[in-house]
Amino acid sequence: MKIKNICCIGAGYVGGPTMAVIALNSPKINIIVVDNNEEKIRRWNGSLDNLPVYEPGLSEIIEKVRGRNLFFSNDIKGAIEKSEMIFMAVNTPTKKEGEGAGMAADLKYVENCAKDIAKYSKSDKIVIEKSTLPVRTAEKISEILEKNSNKINFEILSNPEFLAEGTAIQDLFKSDRVLIGGNETKSGQKAVKALVDIYANWIPKEKILTTNVWSSELAKLASNAMLAQRISSINSLSALCEKTGANIDELSKAIGMDHRIGPHFLKASVGFGGSCFKKDILNLVYLCQFYGLNEVAEYWHQVVKINNYQKIRFTETIIKYFERDLTDKKILILGWAFKANTNDSRESASIFVAQKLFELGAKIDIYDPKVETITIIKDINLEWGYTFNQVSERVSIIDNHSSSVKYDAYVILTEYQEFKSLEIDPQLVFDGRNIFDKTLYSIGKS
Ligand code: NAD
Ligand code: UGA
Repeated sequence: MKIKNICCIGAGYVGGPTMAVIALNSPKINIIVVDNNEEKIRRWNGSLDNLPVYEPGLSEIIEKVRGRNLFFSNDIKGAIEKSEMIFMAVNTPTKKEGEGAGMAADLKYVENCAKDIAKYSKSDKIVIEKSTLPVRTAEKISEILEKNSNKINFEILSNPEFLAEGTAIQDLFKSDRVLIGGNETKSGQKAVKALVDIYANWIPKEKILTTNVWSSELAKLASNAMLAQRISSINSLSALCEKTGANIDELSKAIGMDHRIGPHFLKASVGFGGSCFKKDILNLVYLCQFYGLNEVAEYWHQVVKINNYQKIRFTETIIKYFERDLTDKKILILGWAFKANTNDSRESASIFVAQKLFELGAKIDIYDPKVETITIIKDINLEWGYTFNQVSERVSIIDNHSSSVKYDAYVILTEYQEFKSLEIDPQLVFDGRNIFDKTLYSIGKS
């Protein structure tokens, strides 16, 4: 089956970059990315300097494909009708209320997509789970789709996304693997082939892995859990380093040189942030509990608990330095994003650290090269529990920083190189992205 028209529901950090790369590599396929957020679509169609997602290399691709075979629109109905293949790349946050609140993934956005697909489809569709979903979600989606009584065949595939923010374009071009889960039926395998053929335009065939739907759904959650687990493992050991005089960077290097372990994802830090690790592990914990696997659930839950512990431990180092009185201490927060080269601040450690320092009386300046001021204000309003107006006497968002302005402490929370080259007294620097410095510092002090 040759696919000529694709629709992607969800124009966020996954939908936008993923479809841009497919469009670039598949010039004969027309792709419409739709979203129910009008402002977001306006920005995708607007200036290349103001796209809603910042990723190195993204705007250059958008410039080439937008209006050629990539389109952004709010017309969800029209895009569904027209397409033979539909990706669902909507958000799957942790549920806030109801059964599983605080743990399970909220599937309402995916279910709403499925309802729209069922409502507007007039011909057979391949429906693809691009969002990260709990294992066996395809069953639920299938139930919703089958409510369409027009005798349409919906084939559901799982094709989770493994890109990391800040390197999304390079990850999409050189994926370690593309994972496609499909039904073992004839029509299921036909759908799998149609999607394999699209990726094969630029991904070597041996890197395209096909499995059954459940393995694919679960492999995504498991991959994120394993990545986050490495960070929590090394962060837990950083606490022991601080007690013993061992150096966590040296430890990481020594461990990572074992080829069975490997050197990546062993950088001790203030803790992982981002919209996915925490919510995906909590989702995994919930699934394990659901299936009565309480020991397994507790094992994975510990990854999130250590991450919280690390954020608190890092913040305590700063608080102790000021002997718990931060009244009128001037502190510069360097970096609001959860990692470099993204404008995304979801679950960023900065939100937590800055709030604690603020609540103890500090005056906070916040600088980030990519996160928009409005995003920082929204984070404070939503996460701190104060309106920005209530904090604005002691919190400012600044659009540049200079070594000539003096602070009582500099807290680096995003790993930009420019922050490392500031000419400031290293004793005043608390580097959440290079815990080793802090180790030296806390040992020197005790
Ligand atoms: P996002 O919040 O950036 O984007 C989701 C978009 O979907 C939003 O723009 C929202 O308005 C839109 N949307 C929600 N419901 C809709 C509906 N019914 N109709 C139309 N539009 C709708 O989310 P994201 O970061 O792109 O993540 C999407 C999924 O991909 C999640 O499941 C996430 O776990 C997974 N994922 C994310 C990343 C990442 O780096 N952000 C990487 C891999 C996988
Ligand atoms: C992560 C995964 O790496 C992607 O494969 C996955 O697709 C994605 O989640 C997702 O499902 O959303 P992302 O969260 O964008 O990607 O970025 P990472 O590079 O994984 O970094 C996550 C956090 O861990 C950052 O706060 C980073 O600073 C921190 N980190 C990373 C460490 O503290 N130490 C490390 O060694 C590596």
